[in-house]
Amino acid sequence: MTDLSTATRVKMHESGPEFSSVIWGSMRCEEQFSSVSELADHLRFLLDHGVTTLDTAPAYGIPHPYTVEEFLGKAIAEVGRDKFEIVTKLGIQRISPHREVNRVRHFDFSAKEIARSTDRSLEKLGIDQIDLILLHRPDYLMIPEETAGALDKIVAEGKVRHVGVSNFSPSRIALLKSKLKAPITTNQVEFSPLFLDPISNGTFDTALMEGHRPMIWSPVGGGRLLTSEEEHVTTIREKLAEIARTYDLDGPAEAAMSFVVRHPVGGVPIVGSGKRERVAGAIKAVNTDMDIQDWYDIITLTSPMLNL
Ligand SMILES: NC(=O)c1ccc[n+]([C@@H]2O[C@H](COP(=O)([O-])OP(=O)(O)OC[C@H]3O[C@@H](n4cnc5c(N)ncnc54)[C@H](OP(=O)(O)O)[C@@H]3O)[C@@H](O)[C@H]2O)c1
Repeated sequence: MTDLSTATRVKMHESGPEFSSVIWGSMRCEEQFSSVSELADHLRFLLDHGVTTLDTAPAYGIPHPYTVEEFLGKAIAEVGRDKFEIVTKLGIQRISPHREVNRVRHFDFSAKEIARSTDRSLEKLGIDQIDLILLHRPDYLMIPEETAGALDKIVAEGKVRHVGVSNFSPSRIALLKSKLKAPITTNQVEFSPLFLDPISNGTFDTALMEGHRPMIWSPVGGGRLLTSEEEHVTTIREKLAEIARTYDLDGPAEAAMSFVVRHPVGGVPIVGSGKRERVAGAIKAVNTDMDIQDWYDIITLTSPMLNL
């Protein structure tokens, strides 16, 4: 019988990496935890439930971008680096006192920035190797040969084990792939009952054809699914609450998790909650099979545009 309280293991691509079936996202961790030891306790809780994969990015930080990696790195050091798979990203240039050179928000996939950002992430996280690094958001000025060459170089140097992308369209994936030696092992994208684009814009079709599992960000819409008073969100929330009851799940957030993983692309949700009971609820939901008709019940309600 399936143990509903523990995440399972999933391979993101035939070449790896292997991750937990629920990933924990650190984007909000400075708001959620007031000290390194509090965050370390949360990481221990995650490990107890099989959640070994952590998602972060240099650009995360509140109130100022570029501080989360260091905070997370200190907590990882308390618990033990070898217990986790660490995913970070590169390319977003935000306005911050920690990046005074940035005048406007922009994206940079130049070889120089890829090398510099990788080295900074290794240092801030306090680790020798990054398990997976992602191009965070498309840089429309990307020179494919240069970006691909720089990614292959950080793999060859042993600084990262695997590479991937985030928020990439199918054509952008094809373009990068045509120049890259290393496999693209994931595309990290937004997907939830409030944001259905990947099922109809080719993102999930491409993932299935290419053989990579997407990582799913904001599976409960960053909390909007639970807190928004907009009429269409309230309607979706009520439907999710009803479906949650039939599966003995905690509530609408958990029904949304089950919805997200029901798609055959095998997406792996990145749970952003800092609350233990919500992470535990998400694990149970990911281990619960949603009936085809419940899935379409949600789709029909959320997206009349799909012409069902
Ligand atoms: N690649 C990208 O471009 C990109 C973009 C955004 C995010 N990400 C990654 O994805 C991760 C997850 O994103 P996310 O944080 O937006 O995910 P999420 O899981 O959709 O949202 C988490 C937020 O929702 C709140 N929440 C969860 N369950 C709730 C409930 N039942 N009732 C009320 N509030 C609830 C949480 O508050 P509590 O903490 O109080 O539970 C938290 O503030 C991030 O940490 C980051 O690693 C990637």
